[in-house]
Amino acid sequence: MAVLNGKNILLGVTGGIAAYKAAFLVRLLTKKGGNVKVVMTAAAKEFVTPLTLSTLSKNEVYSSFTNEETDSDSFKEPTWNNHVELALWADLILIAPATANTMSKMAHGSCDNLLLAIYLSAKCPVYYAPAMDLDMYKHPTTNAVFEKLNSFGNIQIPAAFGELASGLVGQGRMTEPEEIISFLENDILKKLPLYGKKILITAGPTYEAIDPVRFIGNHSSGKMGYAIAEAAANLGAEVVLVSGPVNLKLENDFVKIIRITSAEEMYKAAHEYFECSDIAVLSAAVADYRPLEIASEKIKKKTTALSLQLTKTKDILASLGEIKKNQFLVGFALETENEEENAKLKLKKKNLDLIVLNSLRDKGAGFKTDTNKITLIAKDNKVLPFPVKPKKEVAIDILEYIIEQTNA
Ligand code: CTP
Repeated sequence: MAVLNGKNILLGVTGGIAAYKAAFLVRLLTKKGGNVKVVMTAAAKEFVTPLTLSTLSKNEVYSSFTNEETDSDSFKEPTWNNHVELALWADLILIAPATANTMSKMAHGSCDNLLLAIYLSAKCPVYYAPAMDLDMYKHPTTNAVFEKLNSFGNIQIPAAFGELASGLVGQGRMTEPEEIISFLENDILKKLPLYGKKILITAGPTYEAIDPVRFIGNHSSGKMGYAIAEAAANLGAEVVLVSGPVNLKLENDFVKIIRITSAEEMYKAAHEYFECSDIAVLSAAVADYRPLEIASEKIKKKTTALSLQLTKTKDILASLGEIKKNQFLVGFALETENEEENAKLKLKKKNLDLIVLNSLRDKGAGFKTDTNKITLIAKDNKVLPFPVKPKKEVAIDILEYIIEQTNA
């Protein structure tokens, strides 16, 4: 799951025996691609050293309002650890372990250390993983604190059952680091706008064989379709990408890739997945014609001229438009003249909900480039032009529009 990749994660470590597990947490969070900064309370430093967490996070560890290194150095002015900056840097805050003392202060607005000042300044989601002995965990005060924190929108990662540091057995152990990570990932995922949606995407060119060594193809790089697949998965969707031959790699493991070569293979794969899809975006540059016969042996150059008889391929998009039920169907139109008019005709003819128009006359649009310039045309013929942008941003524009329309 890639939801933690690239996220700024502020890990708050407070003073309980489970603080030693913070080292594993930092390791796992960084392995998931998170940028981790650790903030410790003074008590936490009794259990685990800042050096350990700083080495693992590859970042300075903070624990007081002034920079620790310059604090003790009489020749240097102390510098301020800006709690507001740290709070705003974070995409999410995880307080693990969260002791009864820290949680009580969080619930009542106390602010006598850096972590609490960051907590009060934060605008991002705050997760907390309590850790204490079983009777402390059961105490009505602790429950009242949980209720208060949850009413603020803080998200509790409940403590686990098991043997506690006291030797007693019950609920109070901090949840194991691996489970904390899964909890975070699932919680983030289910809040994403495309969570629970299945999206079918076609991308790249198709190759239509002439003989065992030659084919008819086109210049499509697949970059636009791959960017849509990646962005859709990052927004929580379950993505099936039917891809023609391209030289691209996907960073998100959550995209299922079906590799095909010809238009006929793309047709079959698209039909296999369309029925169970909520949204289909057909961005592939499908060959409109294929050789009627594929020579079984390499064609020798015996004659000065050679004619190939071509026959039409099936229009995948139009065929899906014919059978569509509740699916939101999106097509592309690559045009060189009368762009808007042609795109509107395609939208209607192929029974689409949305068409993404590219004009090859626009600079920065079309095949192979890393940028694109699109105009969205909706079913009601509403036209929404966008400026030239990187394809990754264009993908987000398209998906945001789809989200708006499908939730409307
Ligand atoms: N498309 C498809 N199957 C085909 C041809 C096109 O699914 N055999 C889809 C493309 O993926 C795109 C849309 O149809 O989403 C429009 O493709 P485009 O090449 O612009 O238009 P065509 O319908 O092929 O018409 P023309 O080439 O005449 O402009």
